[in-house]
Amino acid sequence: MKSTRDVVTMRLLLVFVPLFIFSQSVEAHFRVVPRSRRSLVDENREAAYTLDSGHDYIAPPLEFDFYKKTCPQLPRIVQKVVAAEFAFDPTSAGPQLRLFFHDCFVQGCDASVLINSTNVNQAINFSIGNFFVIDDIKEQLEKECPGVVSCADVLALVAVYSVKQAGGPLYDIELGRRDSLTSYAPSSETFLPAFSLKVSGLLEDFKLVGLDLVDLVVLSGAHTIGQGHCNSIINRIYPHVDTQYPKYYSEQLVANCTDNGAIKLPNYDNNTQFFNDPITPLQFDNQYFKNLKNNLGLFTSDESLFNDRRTIKLVERYANNQDAFFKQFGVSLRKMGKIGVLTGTQGQIRKQCWVRNSNNADPALNPISLNFTDSTTN
Ligand code: HEM
Repeated sequence: MKSTRDVVTMRLLLVFVPLFIFSQSVEAHFRVVPRSRRSLVDENREAAYTLDSGHDYIAPPLEFDFYKKTCPQLPRIVQKVVAAEFAFDPTSAGPQLRLFFHDCFVQGCDASVLINSTNVNQAINFSIGNFFVIDDIKEQLEKECPGVVSCADVLALVAVYSVKQAGGPLYDIELGRRDSLTSYAPSSETFLPAFSLKVSGLLEDFKLVGLDLVDLVVLSGAHTIGQGHCNSIINRIYPHVDTQYPKYYSEQLVANCTDNGAIKLPNYDNNTQFFNDPITPLQFDNQYFKNLKNNLGLFTSDESLFNDRRTIKLVERYANNQDAFFKQFGVSLRKMGKIGVLTGTQGQIRKQCWVRNSNNADPALNPISLNFTDSTTN
């Protein structure tokens, strides 16, 4: 015969167990996010997990001094190559900084952007470049500290040294990222913000990778250096010329990108480029924000920052205070540099940045059957 306590316990179990199961399934149901937007960063992480051990693996955090013992030559090598390239071509800082952004936003900062295409590149990644700088550095690193430094960390360091080379501060950035085994081209279209977006759309893309409004405004300040092609401003000059541009400026854009006002585009053959910052194009400074106040933002995305009540105050602040810009840029760059990183035993250290290591007998390190292994440059 059961005691009263047993009966009460049984009844409680009968009521609460189904309730618990129901609440779990409701929660799971509401956690569902549309696959196209949600899952590629997650899938990369999940793949890395699975390849690791099949069990929950607590990946260690990034560290400032990660290579202090294993490759103390690292900063010197990166600095030397970036400086030499800058001396040869002072516009090199732009594409090198942009590479880091394109890497981090798609699948996390895992050097997936560097993996060679076996498929078509996505339009949104058109004009990313200076891969040879990464390869040059990696080659030297493989001689001095073989198999130690990841391509993902080289991208991060090249970005910070490029900012420094262009006259900005030298930012300290955490290291210890590892390289992905895969790259999935279509996800770049999903995750990289388009030039035609305004603040709401941009913010949506930033939030998707854990960045916020301040990050959006301050990181857009990277457009204080670098260049853009006609393709990226076509929506502002054809079929109608955006009257927000000063007349003299839009006249230059139209003259160079169209054939007497008739469209030469869309195609990627028109190599005409414009400085993102027409006033101090090669200098990493706060001129970009001053330009926005004078309607000299090149892309719709730039211009929208001064036309939106959510962002205008930040633009004013950075236009008036370069130190504030420099300080927050460093904070947000480091934050961007932590998006979806692989660490510890996740991923691998690629020997050559454009291809995952292939001479490894371990199928986990050289997978052929992941559903997104058709390696393509992001
Ligand atoms: C806010 C969203 C952003 C949009 C919509 C955007 C869009 C673009 C576009 C369309 C170009 C020109 C591509 C071309 O025509 O060749 C460009 C160039 C550039 N972007 Fe962004 N970008 C954004 C954020 C960022 C961020 C966060 C960074 C870095 C932290 C960055 C760094 C650069 C640099 C340095 C260039 C010049 C590249 C060169 O000189 O080749 N951008 N961006």
